[in-house]
Amino acid sequence: MKDLFAALKPGSKDWRLAEAIDPDRLPAHIAIIMDGNGRWARRRNLPRVAGHRAGIEPVQTTVETCSRLGIQALTLYAFSVENWKRPRAEVDMLWRLLRLYLRRELPELMRNRVRFTCMGRLDGLPPQVRQDLENSIDATAGNNGLRLNVAINYSGRSELVDAVNAIVEDARLEGRLRDLHIDEESIAARLYTAGLPDPDLLIRTSGEKRVSNFLLWQIAYAELYVTDTLWPDFRRADLLDAILDYQKRDRRFGGLSMDAESAALKEWAEPVATIAQ
Ligand code: IPE
Ligand code: IPE
Ligand code: MG
Repeated sequence: MKDLFAALKPGSKDWRLAEAIDPDRLPAHIAIIMDGNGRWARRRNLPRVAGHRAGIEPVQTTVETCSRLGIQALTLYAFSVENWKRPRAEVDMLWRLLRLYLRRELPELMRNRVRFTCMGRLDGLPPQVRQDLENSIDATAGNNGLRLNVAINYSGRSELVDAVNAIVEDARLEGRLRDLHIDEESIAARLYTAGLPDPDLLIRTSGEKRVSNFLLWQIAYAELYVTDTLWPDFRRADLLDAILDYQKRDRRFGGLSMDAESAALKEWAEPVATIAQ
């Protein structure tokens, strides 16, 4: 957290928000559905691609802030398998902007010791995009700071299909297809996110209350945070607001909250003792 204060003006709004955050209860993994670029542009009578261009700055700020906060992992939804349905010119522009971001940001990622990875059906991407992604992955592979994981040509359902196929293929190669047993651990170990903790906090901008095929398995117990802010308007304060909201949640994972648990123990102690007699 002290890295974050170093970047803030004492007494500013961001500073006050940062002060309210409990450093011991930060989410280990934040996932973001960056949505609303097109609407941001339309409101300004600009072409949709202007919204995508304006969406780069919030990516930079969010990566920097998570890095300074000491967050372990940040997964950003950049392009879904379904986004191929968009006009060719828009899709081409998204690849150009992604390449621009990767090239421009590499020195900054290195300075902040960010390790860049990506996930999705990467073999379906244009070769130059794949090349630039691989360059950033290789260049940052030795960094031990924030893990920045970008979902590109991603679909939660395809990820599950790929995981199950990989499990079956391994078993076939090892000659143990007949007594193949699949459990939660073996699926999790074959997802693109293997080795990462599940997201604690899932943020979606632009007010849409849906998950749009994002991390279907991993968000089983994520806390959801939807803001009306459009992605190009998402500032550091919006991220800090989301984290503060997350810290107010009572995560029960199907069990009972601490207070309810001790109350329930008291409430049940007598009847249970009577029944047990
Ligand atoms: C999110 O913004 C960026 C991508 C999906 C690539 P949109 O382009 O979906 O913006 P809206 O939802 O049309 O406003
Ligand atoms: C989800 O946004 C995908 C990304 C943010 C990359 P969409 O704009 O594609 O989602 P829908 O179509 O509104 O569900
Ligand atoms: Mg959208």
